Amino acid sequence: MKETRNILVTGGAGYIGSHTVVELIQRGYNPIIVDDFRNSSSEVIDGIEAIVGTRPVTYELDVTCKSDLSKVFATHDLDGVIHFAAYKAVGESVDHPLMYYRNNVDSLINCLELSEVFGVKNFVFSSSCTVYGQPKESSIVTEDTPIQEANSPYGATKQMCERIISDVHKSGSSLRFLNLRYFNPVGAHPSSHIGELPLGRPSNLLPFVTQTAAGLLNELTVFGNDYNTVDGTCIRDYIHVVDLANAHIKGFQWLELQSGPALETINVGTGHGISVLEIIHTFEKVSGLQLNWAYGPRRSGDVEQIFADTTKAKNCLGWEAERSVEDAIVDAWNWQKKMGDE
Ligand code: UD1
Repeated sequence: MKETRNILVTGGAGYIGSHTVVELIQRGYNPIIVDDFRNSSSEVIDGIEAIVGTRPVTYELDVTCKSDLSKVFATHDLDGVIHFAAYKAVGESVDHPLMYYRNNVDSLINCLELSEVFGVKNFVFSSSCTVYGQPKESSIVTEDTPIQEANSPYGATKQMCERIISDVHKSGSSLRFLNLRYFNPVGAHPSSHIGELPLGRPSNLLPFVTQTAAGLLNELTVFGNDYNTVDGTCIRDYIHVVDLANAHIKGFQWLELQSGPALETINVGTGHGISVLEIIHTFEKVSGLQLNWAYGPRRSGDVEQIFADTTKAKNCLGWEAERSVEDAIVDAWNWQKKMGDE
């Protein structure tokens, strides 16, 4: 077996992708980034280099362009693919469904077809807890919790991509598949060299919190305080992005241990639910600042509460989250301040 594994990382300059590239390099893997920077920046590659001391091979191209992508498969003897490249904003997907279906589904199909043609063995797919919709029985979801109809075109693309992978697996493909269903990734690299880079007005909670605290936005609106939860605000499972990145390393190692075709789907969360108010209070505690926020109406499409049952991640991958939500908020805030200094 080769000493260094070559892993294609689509969307490797994105938020989760860039943190995963760092962890891969630090463990001796050779990630090859493909990203067209439409939702990131080439400075992310500088940030990765600042952390690990080497510059990962990077191709600036659109994963939905199969002929361009095939050149990368032809150039590198790939041991695996980690497929992140996708759009991920729920609201935007409602306004631009075709853009979401085209981008998210086409890019997966290209990666799968080329993996088969070039005999790549291991495939990790970036899925999401959004596939569960609002769970009916309990807010803690296992991988066997029945999938509800997706709340948004974004959610539907993740369900479709999982379905495509399942069909390819059933058809007798020799690929080994792992779908990782992420809960809510937050935080930044503790070095502050990389982090979340929302373009324009952020839609996710933590970038909104840190940008409000930095004075870039006036006020955070808490979407709804009449939910059936501890304090009336929604509950989510916020996972530090470095922990999430590490789940990919464990996932890749697990794939390599499989003797033949495989397909596994695993939740990646902390197992703990936290309310929007708790996030705000934790932010105020760690930053020493008072955040300007107010209650507003519910956001359409929001689920009331959801968090991960992490038993399978522990048993199958030997992985569990190590960092707290405080750690994530400290890192996100340091990252925000660093961006403000530049
Ligand atoms: C959703 C998906 C997640 C996906 C993510 C991508 C679910 C359960 N989760 O996350 O899988 O990866 O989109 O974007 O479908 N909030 C406010 N004010 C704000 C922003 C957010 O109160 O300005 C609240 C929301 O109502 C929600 C919580 O903060 O309760 C988290 O919201 P957000 O960060 O947008 O993530 P989700 O919608 O949970």
